[in-house]
Amino acid sequence: MKTRSLLQKTVTIGLSVAALTVGGTALGASDKGKVSVLNWWTSGSEAKSMNVLQQMLADKGYKMVNDAVSGGGGSNARTVLKSRIQSNNLPGAAQIKGPEIQQWCTTGLTMNIDQVAKEQNWSKILPGPVAKGMQCDDHFVAVPFNLHRINWLWINKSALEKAGASMPTDWNSLVDTLDKLKAAGITPVAGGGDTWQVATEFDAIALATGGADFYRKAFVDLDENALSGDTMTKALKRLRTIQKYEDPAGQGLSWNHDTGLVVKGKAGMQIMGDWAKGEISNADATPGDEIACIAFPGEHSGFVYNADSFEMFKSSNSDQQAQYAFARTALSPEFQRKFNMAKGSIPVREDVSLDGFDACAQQSKKDFTAAEKNDALVPSFSQDMAENGAVKGAIFDVIAKFYNNKGMSPEDAAKEMASQAKQAKMMSQM
Ligand code: BGC
Repeated sequence: MKTRSLLQKTVTIGLSVAALTVGGTALGASDKGKVSVLNWWTSGSEAKSMNVLQQMLADKGYKMVNDAVSGGGGSNARTVLKSRIQSNNLPGAAQIKGPEIQQWCTTGLTMNIDQVAKEQNWSKILPGPVAKGMQCDDHFVAVPFNLHRINWLWINKSALEKAGASMPTDWNSLVDTLDKLKAAGITPVAGGGDTWQVATEFDAIALATGGADFYRKAFVDLDENALSGDTMTKALKRLRTIQKYEDPAGQGLSWNHDTGLVVKGKAGMQIMGDWAKGEISNADATPGDEIACIAFPGEHSGFVYNADSFEMFKSSNSDQQAQYAFARTALSPEFQRKFNMAKGSIPVREDVSLDGFDACAQQSKKDFTAAEKNDALVPSFSQDMAENGAVKGAIFDVIAKFYNNKGMSPEDAAKEMASQAKQAKMMSQM
């Protein structure tokens, strides 16, 4: 077989992934211009959240074309973005997070939205690290929507009762609870096994096992000792333990399907960011009531954060005024409340009230503020907040290798993580 060119390969991937594209029609007519928005929000609650924006823009006379590409964590959406660049069909806004925002600026294709940032005083209303993350060379190029917390455990209380188990408070009591659920014939942990989901679980485990300093050293500084040392090994051992409580027949299922299993009591718990809460509410269960939310337990507490954001592009198929309206509306207090109630996250604007939000959102806000004060706030490595795509990819590869090969020891996986991350960092700086 002949080797195909990179362009051919990318276009083929782009076309097959484009088949997954859903949505695409805006509500209501508009004459003030349109903005095309590439994102990966396709679960029930995610789509509902995005509809809030589409409707608010339509009410102002703008058309939002919702280019949603399925796939939790956004790997398909990223592929589509690259192929759209190659075919000169850039979206007006694309869901991009963390250091990748700055990487995209180097293409010269991103759009400056300082004028909206100034008008709404983003530097004042946003948490410091979030405001900084939206800029390149001191200019705003991206707009944040929310704050998601990653290190959550979602637990079905009646499943626990049925199993005669109690709410876990530390690692040992968690294992005890998982044993009891298993003995009662309930799948202890809902986990679909795809790399993004496993990395999300590991994110929570790593913070609870090693704490914020360790987490930062490992995943932000890529410190070799932290990546290959005893704490990382211990965290990987715990991941292996969690894996034993997942249903082998449930591998390959999506994160929102897994949340559904917890809501129905078919599984006892799920380790997942609070977009799971969007699905819980969407299924008419009450987060904090039937479904408990606790920070993933371990020796350490803290807050692993993820801010969903959209980077703006100088786009051939979007109108500048509609792009400004998109950014402005996303940070309006009204949108911040409506959207985040549906999405499971909390408002990223610090001056927006959480009155009427559920108990888990209140807990999230409280823990965020405490973590900010105690230096226990860390950017999520699994949700692109800590490192560029190449380094994240290298860490993901090792996690996948470890998860899929039960013969691989936690010690070897930790060493491999250190060497692969270092190599990926070096390569990405060349
Ligand atoms: C995003 C969330 C989204 C989740 C599942 C995460 O990377 O930050 O907003 O709900 O993926 O699709």
